[in-house]
Parts: sequence; C-alpha cells; structure tokens
Amino acid sequence: NKDIKILAIETSCDETAASVIQNGSEVLSNVVVSQIESHKRFGGVVPEVASRHHVEAITNVIEVAMTEANLKPSDLDAVAVTEGPGLIGALLIGINAAKTYAFVHDLPLIPVHHIAGHIYASQLEAPLQFPLMSLVISGGHTELIYMKDHMSFEIVGETRDDAVGEAFDKVARVIDLPYPGGPHIDKLAQTGEDTFDFPRGLIKEDTYDFSFSGLKSAVINKLHNYRQKGIEINKNDVAASFQKSVVDVLTDKTFRSMEDYKVKNLVIAGGVAGNSEIREEFSKLCNARDVKLHIPSLKYCTDNAAMIGAAAYHLYFKDHRADLTLNGRNFIDI
Ligand code: KG4
Ligand code: ZN
Repeated sequence: NKDIKILAIETSCDETAASVIQNGSEVLSNVVVSQIESHKRFGGVVPEVASRHHVEAITNVIEVAMTEANLKPSDLDAVAVTEGPGLIGALLIGINAAKTYAFVHDLPLIPVHHIAGHIYASQLEAPLQFPLMSLVISGGHTELIYMKDHMSFEIVGETRDDAVGEAFDKVARVIDLPYPGGPHIDKLAQTGEDTFDFPRGLIKEDTYDFSFSGLKSAVINKLHNYRQKGIEINKNDVAASFQKSVVDVLTDKTFRSMEDYKVKNLVIAGGVAGNSEIREEFSKLCNARDVKLHIPSLKYCTDNAAMIGAAAYHLYFKDHRADLTLNGRNFIDI
C-alpha cells in the first residue's frame, strides 16, 4: 500500500495557496499567502489586483510547499488544482501553474471544485462520516449539501441572493469596519445585544433556500433612519442583532433539512464557519440533538490548498483527470 502524495494549488480568490497532502488527510505542508492588505483599501477583492498578486506569488508558494514537505517532484502522485468557481483571472493563474507542473513532471492533473474542497477541509482532522449534511458558508457561497458518500453532492438549499459572508462584509462596511468585515462583526457582537430584531429571511417558508438581502437592507435602513434623526447607533448591538438573525436562519434550515434527510452528521465549512457564535450555537444544538458535528479549525475554514488536496485524494482513485485544455469555470456542478 503506497502512500499517495498530492500537490494541491488554490487561487480562486485572494489567497495564493499550495499544499502537499498525503493519503487525503496528512498535511505535509500548507502555504497560504493572503492578499487582504492589498484589497483592504478598496473595501473588497479587486479581481485584476488578485490576478497580479497570484502571478507574483504562485511559483514561490509552490516551491515552499514542496520544500516544507521535503519532497522532489518525482515523489508526487498527482497535481490537483481548483477549477472553479471563483474569479476567472485568479483561477487561471493556479490552473496554468498546475498544468505546467503536471506537464513538466509527467504527473496526472486533477481538477477540484472549490466547494468540495471546503467540505473536505474536515477530512484533514477527522474522517467524513456518511450520510452527512454540509452547511457551506463563505464569501461567495451559502449552501446546504447532502452527501450519501464520497464525492456525491446533492444541493438541498442555496442562497437566492447574497452569500452569508457577503452579507457580513456589506453590513460591516456600512458601520465603517475594515474589509473583510466578518471577523470584526463577530468581535463587536460579543459585547452587543439583539435589540433590533432584524428579519430572518425565508425562515417561515417551506424551502431550504436562504435569502440575506432583506436582512442587509433592514440593517442599512435602520442606520439611515437613525442618522436622519441624529441618534447615535450602537454598533455592537447592530452587529449582535445582525449575527443573531443569521444564526437563527442557519440553524433552523440546517436542522430541518437534517431531519428531512435523516442525517446525524453535520459538517460546517467555509470562511464564515470561523464565526464564534455560529460555532457555539451549532455545538450546543448538535449536542442536544445527538448530531455529530465537525467544523474545521480556523486555518482550514478560510481558503487554503490543503482542503483541495483532501478532496483530490478521492478523485485520484475515481480516475477523475483533466488534460492540458483545463480552463477556469464558474458554472460547474459540484
Ligand atoms: O471561504 P472564504 O475564505 O472565501 C470564500 O471562498 O469566499 O470566506 C471568506 C468570508 C468573508 O466574507 C469573511 O468576512 C467571512 O468569510 N468570515 C467571517 C468570519 N471569518 C471570516 N464571517 C463571520 N465571522 C467570522 N469570524
Ligand atoms: Zn472559499
């Protein structure tokens, strides 16, 4: 039984990342170079700026990942790369680096769906147990995904407008917090109270879909309203109220879908899974319901290449391969 070593590359947004993963779960190296400082002054990720940073960083990031893993290219079994969804220009930098590396060293090339990567981040810490429900909450995605086995994904519900992380970032922006706003809202909320009672999107409807644009508008309207009247608004209470509304919707939809699909394993994935109230509430509720919960450590919640390597391990055995015509794609089924 030979160990399978995969070099994984991820450049879908504003992190240039490479990692070597052995047998789908052992992290031999995990290098992430963040561009957040460059995007901060624009209040969000600027696609062209992201691509340029990826070009500058990618070769070095791969070299460091290989050096830290203490491996030569000939020790590898495959190269994996995020194929999408993401910023097309950004994806292409990682894809071209992966294609070149695979071609030069005669290695198979494995394309990986970014969201599959987020879910498989869990596998770096504990094996996935099926059937499971996965709540994927990031800057670009909000989805409930049912998995009956490895690499089998059924989308049970998804956002009809903003992603949760996007809502966090937009609300943070209107209360003058730096980008990305999620962690700042998280912090303010810890000393705030749910005094505003903002709407809980689609909570009463018979659907597992989400909607966060109404919540975002409600926050913005309230702020305008207070400003007009010259009343000082309590930012901590805004943050706490907003976050409470998000948590109520996420827990309600997740547990209802789990009862419906009769699943007792829950995986929460994506950058927003780093939120402390989300982590606490879900742990508490899962305990009470006898649900086995896995939320990755913070470093595996946000974008990284280790998660891509974890997912690629299963694709390796399914003979899922790409050739050198591989392109970045935004509309791909998971
Ligand atoms: O998964 P990720 O790194 O990138 C995407 O694929 O989108 O997620 C980034 C998102 C951002 O919107 C950021 O504000 C949010 O995750 N985020 C948080 C927290 N940490 C990161 N949102 C709420 N609370 C946090 N602690
Ligand atoms: Zn992501």
